[in-house]
Amino acid sequence: MRIMYKMYRINEILFMLALYCATTCSKGMTEIEALGAKPNHCTYEYAYDMYGAHCADLRLSKIPSLRSGIEILDFSDNKLQELTGDTLSSYTSIKFLYLADNQIYLIEDDALSSLTDLQTLDLSNNVILELPKKIFQLPSLRKLYLRGNPLIHMGLNDLVSFQPVKAPLELLDLSNCRIKVLPKWGILSQLIFYNISHNPLISIDPHHFSSMCNLGKVDITDSIDNIKICDLKPTIMWFQNKSVYFELADYSRLNSGEYESCPVLNGTHMNINNATFNLCKAELLQVQNIKAARKTWLTISGSLFGFLVGFILLLYIMHRHNVAQTKKPSPEKLKETKKPSGDADKRATVVLLDNMS
Ligand SMILES: *[C@@H]1O[C@H](CO)[C@@H](O)[C@H](O)[C@H]1NC(C)=O
Ligand SMILES: *[C@@H]1O[C@H](CO)[C@@H](O)[C@H](O)[C@H]1NC(C)=O
Ligand SMILES: *[C@@H]1O[C@H](CO)[C@@H](O)[C@H](O)[C@H]1NC(C)=O
Ligand SMILES: *[C@@H]1O[C@H](CO)[C@@H](O)[C@H](O)[C@H]1NC(C)=O
Repeated sequence: MRIMYKMYRINEILFMLALYCATTCSKGMTEIEALGAKPNHCTYEYAYDMYGAHCADLRLSKIPSLRSGIEILDFSDNKLQELTGDTLSSYTSIKFLYLADNQIYLIEDDALSSLTDLQTLDLSNNVILELPKKIFQLPSLRKLYLRGNPLIHMGLNDLVSFQPVKAPLELLDLSNCRIKVLPKWGILSQLIFYNISHNPLISIDPHHFSSMCNLGKVDITDSIDNIKICDLKPTIMWFQNKSVYFELADYSRLNSGEYESCPVLNGTHMNINNATFNLCKAELLQVQNIKAARKTWLTISGSLFGFLVGFILLLYIMHRHNVAQTKKPSPEKLKETKKPSGDADKRATVVLLDNMS
């Protein structure tokens, strides 16, 4: 009886424990489960007709060996610290590279130079000390995100006297980088969007923008508060003159009487910027002409190829027709043999047409 009672007590305690655990331990357990359920290696999938490796948020401190031929690599939100010459050298087909939210402080000079197809590079929210100059020579790079790199401003002045930018940059994001003086990029004839918001700029001048003749939008939110209102006027007027949309959190400073009464631009100053602008325009025109010529050439060679394929197909069909006529098989046999091959021909045409478009 006593033993029974004891057993009952033990069972009760165990039951209570289980109940307690079910309510309080459950949180810890689901967390552990969640961790277990999360993939701990890169996954692969097709997106936008491209093959991509997704390795985001895996707490990795180095890029593992990946399948070759990837065009997208999402390695954001990891613990990568260095990009060395061989980190990415075997993935030359990468077009979109996302390395935001890592701890990258070092990018070796040759780390990205083999990525000649690279179009978008996101290095946001790292601690990059110095950008390799070769990034600006990448022949396909159109979008470069450097936002949230608090140390990068120290190396930007170094970029002042480097070779002209060859990358066809359309978007440059330098927001939130503690920049005081904007770098001189030289001519960026294709740049459309320049994000320099959230920087403690101490000066701003039309010459920072005159070499960007395709510029449509500049974000200067929270960046010009330290600049005297009259020192802003030349740049604001430049934006207005060149139809550049500039984004600000608060436009009221520019609508004040104080701004109105600031002296207007000095003409000679304006002419220098205008000359740079016109130089940039000439380069832009050249680029656009090359693009247009390439497009025309592609259309011409495409249609020529299509014509040739059609012609060869016609010859082939005629040939088959002749062969069929000389052999003159019985009608039943003709039906049996010709139908599948006819289908195959049709499929071949479809495949060829697909390849062409
Ligand atoms: C510019 O960058 C800031 C901060 O990184 C961001 O919040 C903002 O949306 C960007 N501006 C535009 C127009 O995309
Ligand atoms: C642009 O600048 C030129 C030359 O300084 C000036 O004559 C013209 O009025 C300006 N245009 C606008 C829209 O501000
Ligand atoms: C314009 O600026 C230049 C130097 O930047 C100066 O030599 C010239 O006198 C100025 N012209 C006027 C009209 O203020
Ligand atoms: C700037 O260049 C444009 C285009 O060549 C010209 O029409 C305009 O008058 C120039 N403005 C100044 C201030 O030189």
